[in-house]
Amino acid sequence: MEREPEKYILDHSSPEDPVLEDLYRQTHLRFVNPNMVSGHLQGKFLEMITRMINPLNVLEIGTFTGYSAICMARGMKPGTQLTTIEMNDELADFARSYFIKAGVESLIIQVTGRLQDVIKSMDREFDLVFIDGDKREYTEYYRLVIDKVRAGGYLIADNVLFGGKVFDKDTSDPQARGIIEFNEMISRQTNIENLILPVRDGLMLIRKL
Ligand SMILES: C[S@@+](CC[C@H](N)C(=O)[O-])C[C@H]1O[C@@H](n2cnc3c(N)ncnc32)[C@H](O)[C@@H]1O
Repeated sequence: MEREPEKYILDHSSPEDPVLEDLYRQTHLRFVNPNMVSGHLQGKFLEMITRMINPLNVLEIGTFTGYSAICMARGMKPGTQLTTIEMNDELADFARSYFIKAGVESLIIQVTGRLQDVIKSMDREFDLVFIDGDKREYTEYYRLVIDKVRAGGYLIADNVLFGGKVFDKDTSDPQARGIIEFNEMISRQTNIENLILPVRDGLMLIRKL
């Protein structure tokens, strides 16, 4: 997004709370690829949409440092559950410390492992799934989770515009290719409806019919 519209949007949206501001800063100071973090605008969007859906069970693929998990948990009621999966076990303690600082730790179950390995053991239905793992694996994630989403439930996939690289059908970037494959696969599905929103790097909203 151009700088001026982004500044205007930020100036006229609720401010980032101090815990998330600190998490964003620490993520940039301490971790490789800090730009993977959702950030304020997308985070606030995730919080609001989670509140609207009012889910009992949420699944997140790709915790990283926990920013998006905190945002979704903020939109959830006591007694509901967010399961967040992360394959990098070095991130778990750091993310947990921020779940505690944000006061949402009782809602969040952290699972360490690859989605592909751990999903089989999860025998519950999800009302909302946030897909934000490896872009080359989105199609695989979708196939593995769609039967675990309740009818009328939602999936949200991040980075579906991938910095505009998806407009180049001949791109050799493996992550862009993964996203292109995912977007095309979604377009062919008959049991869902979907919409791409140009928020940050593109968010795909999917509703299972
Ligand atoms: C873009 S980051 C997630 C950012 C986070 N959702 C946020 O908004 O702050 C992607 C994360 O997914 C993890 N990941 C990649 N492939 C995965 C897989 N197959 N299963 C679980 N986690 C995976 C990576 O280690 C990385 O930390």
